Amino acid sequence: MTDVAILYFSGYGHTVKQAEALEVGASSIQGTKVDVLRIDENGDLPDVGWDKLKDAKAIVFGSPTYMGGPAWQLKRVADASSKPWFSQEWKNKIAGGFTTSITTNGDKASTISYFVTLAMQHSMVWAGTAVMPANAKANGPDDAGWTGGMTGALAIAPSDASPEEGAAKGDMETARLYGARIAEMAMKLN
Ligand SMILES: Cc1cc2nc3c(=O)[nH]c(=O)nc-3n(C[C@H](O)[C@H](O)[C@H](O)COP(=O)(O)O)c2cc1C
Repeated sequence: MTDVAILYFSGYGHTVKQAEALEVGASSIQGTKVDVLRIDENGDLPDVGWDKLKDAKAIVFGSPTYMGGPAWQLKRVADASSKPWFSQEWKNKIAGGFTTSITTNGDKASTISYFVTLAMQHSMVWAGTAVMPANAKANGPDDAGWTGGMTGALAIAPSDASPEEGAAKGDMETARLYGARIAEMAMKLN
């Protein structure tokens, strides 16, 4: 049984949709068990969360981009991960990251870069999306890879869009494909 843990925070519900798409993608790979661990508004993990992270073969970090980086709630858990860091508990696990923000750019790359650094601190192995950019004239928000970010999954949720209206169809598909890739990579570790 392969375990993919999706460890994330969402303040207003938009990043939830991205996490759900990742879950669908990871679950589509046969034999994969997915644990979704949502950090609460106080920056706490569910009690079982740390054990699940220890057991997982892959951890995907997610947060909205707030002020050009991850939300403090995610960072609180990242700081608390200094405990498993001491014994390098997460060493050689597959790592990935995703973020939602309001604007096309919005400094989402800073959030993803933070996740890469966190993963490197834990001696994890980073997996990019492997979703090719959809960059022709005919391409747009309905297409996976339309934002062109290959390090992690990006989503744009307009300021007046409810979580249900959500980010573009292409962003959700990118997250779904990324979830499947993470699960496949985790399976190769077996
Ligand atoms: C405190 C705060 C800071 C934000 N900073 C940024 C930012 O730097 N770049 C950006 O594009 N959007 C920014 N936003 C917008 C959020 O990224 C956007 O609303 C996102 O969809 C929220 O995700 P959530 O619903 O999962 O919390 C910010 C929102 C808040 C509340």
